[in-house]
Amino acid sequence: MKKIIIANWKMYYGPIKAGAWIRAFRRERLPKDLDIAVAVPFVSLAAARASLGRASIPMLSAQDVFWAEEGAFTGEISPSMLSELGTQLSLVGHSERRQYLGETDEMVAKKALALQKAGIVPVICIGETAIQRKRGEAAKVIRAQIQAAIADLKADGKAPPIFAYEPVWAIGSGKPCSPQDAKEMHETIRAVLTKKYGKDAERLRILYGGSVDQRNVNDYLTTTGIDGALVGGAALDPRGFGLLCRAALPA
Ligand code: PGA
Repeated sequence: MKKIIIANWKMYYGPIKAGAWIRAFRRERLPKDLDIAVAVPFVSLAAARASLGRASIPMLSAQDVFWAEEGAFTGEISPSMLSELGTQLSLVGHSERRQYLGETDEMVAKKALALQKAGIVPVICIGETAIQRKRGEAAKVIRAQIQAAIADLKADGKAPPIFAYEPVWAIGSGKPCSPQDAKEMHETIRAVLTKKYGKDAERLRILYGGSVDQRNVNDYLTTTGIDGALVGGAALDPRGFGLLCRAALPA
């Protein structure tokens, strides 16, 4: 399975800086056997696309989407609007959206389904909080989040979902989840997917996210069952992110 690293800019970089980031990143030497995507703010998608020109790396991702095709939903962005800009993936259910914008499992499920119908790969983010982990509820929480998100989703076709296990306590904290603990959670996730999709689940990628950087990225990507990484802080500098991509896989 080809691994993938997705940069998540979060609420950084409007169109001007986005264009500059893409141009700088295009100068990086990148491993061929790795998929690379960058999740940019809505308003920067067009500039990022323009700076890419004919280049197909990195792939463009949105950070969110709305589930309806069009209508009276002030402020929202539909999957087909994202497609018009050449967006190939979109995050859904990032913990920051669940925490600050009140996104529920039900909303995440609707968004993922709408993306898949439009041929955009949903990158479904899930993760437990520190308290949930302390109470021994991590696996239970993750199972519930996944089950809700995939209720109507297909595993095959043009836009099979990607999953990103991001323990909330590891995001932006500099305290990553150990590869061993992440591996255990990835096994839990894979088991839920296998129950629903059978053999097709083997082809679905499950990423780890939360304080991934140049130094630890290889530990995750060489751990069985971890198919890539979602990277926030360490992806803000294009050269640093290039270095991270090169460090990700053994030469
Ligand atoms: P981080 O963020 O790499 O800065 O921890 C990851 C994410 O939120 O996707």
